[in-house]
Amino acid sequence: MINKIFERTYKNGIRFEGKIPPNTTSADGKFLLSNGGGWTDSFYVGMLYLGYAYTNDKKFLAVADKYQDFFKLRAANNPDWCEKNNIIPLDHDTGFIFSLSQVRRYRLTKDENAKQIAIKAAKILAGRFHENGQFIRAWDTWKWDNDPKFIEEKKGKMIIDSMMNLSLLFWAGEETGDESLTATAKAHADTIAKYIVRKDGSTFHQFNFNPMTGEPINGCTGQGYSDDSCWSRGQAWAVYGFSQTYLNTGDKKYLDIAKKCAYYFIDKLTVTGLPLWDFKCSQKAFRPYDSSAAAIALSGLLNINYCIEDKKISDGIKAIYTGITEHCSALGIPDWESILLHACVGPAYHAENDNLLINPNVDCPIVYADYYFTEAILKMHDSEKYIELLR
Ligand code: GLY
Repeated sequence: MINKIFERTYKNGIRFEGKIPPNTTSADGKFLLSNGGGWTDSFYVGMLYLGYAYTNDKKFLAVADKYQDFFKLRAANNPDWCEKNNIIPLDHDTGFIFSLSQVRRYRLTKDENAKQIAIKAAKILAGRFHENGQFIRAWDTWKWDNDPKFIEEKKGKMIIDSMMNLSLLFWAGEETGDESLTATAKAHADTIAKYIVRKDGSTFHQFNFNPMTGEPINGCTGQGYSDDSCWSRGQAWAVYGFSQTYLNTGDKKYLDIAKKCAYYFIDKLTVTGLPLWDFKCSQKAFRPYDSSAAAIALSGLLNINYCIEDKKISDGIKAIYTGITEHCSALGIPDWESILLHACVGPAYHAENDNLLINPNVDCPIVYADYYFTEAILKMHDSEKYIELLR
């Protein structure tokens, strides 16, 4: 299976010609292509670095090289360049964008330019820290925003996905010796643990603070079914993000949180071994699975499994792996570009109008489902090598 994944990854690059697949594919399985500009900019490039790490074949690097100018400009974050090219200026997703591309490239090739780009990006990410609230602010105002309440909320908002951005800070802290970067990452993880992780191990998608004072206000959702539900990809970000924070700090409290979130995730799997897109949605209408949540959680569970022996975790790994490979693999479909099927960008439905499908991108391939599944397969192949490379 690994060879098939990387054959497809390399072949895709020939058609992509330096373009970035933002999210989903067309009906014939071809990724839609863009000039980049969002949080998903690094997932295809990330697949190329995984391909290089596994095969040692420089052809993967040659394709990845085509994206280097883009990442350099992305880290420069010039407002005029962003505006002209329809790029969202760097926000908390800076971690996704530069860990998978520049940190990975540096770890594999010792490319000094990649290191400098990633350090610059890490400083931008740390600059988003809200001192009073002790969290990294998620987003800024987008040019298409038209809801004044959301614009105001975003001034004091953190979201669970941000746990995945912290590894950039841990890496940069290690490389530069700047302990403030590490301290910022830990403080943010602690604030997420306090307000976003619920007592039962489930998670809110988002949490709002008073933008001035940093006083906590409320948890809510954007991509889930309701404010008090549990969006499964968000839960997967928690499993992975806290396990990665443990790998980067050695502080057991983060491993305990990762395990608690993982237990919740495993308990809520369907009999197929796959999660629905939201763990607490009603069952009134068609409810899509999310193979991306499954793949992210699988890679996170493998981190936990590397650190401790725990039967529930190892059973969860088997269940999810079986669910993905039996129900979601696109590897047998000729001329198809994605690795997996049945992901969900979300939100699919909202509690307020329970039967109305509100997002066309459900039950579709998405590039980050492919990326995290590939990570998981590599960790299953050689846990020590890939957990160190990907931490
Ligand atoms: N980080 C956005 C998402 O998981 O959809």
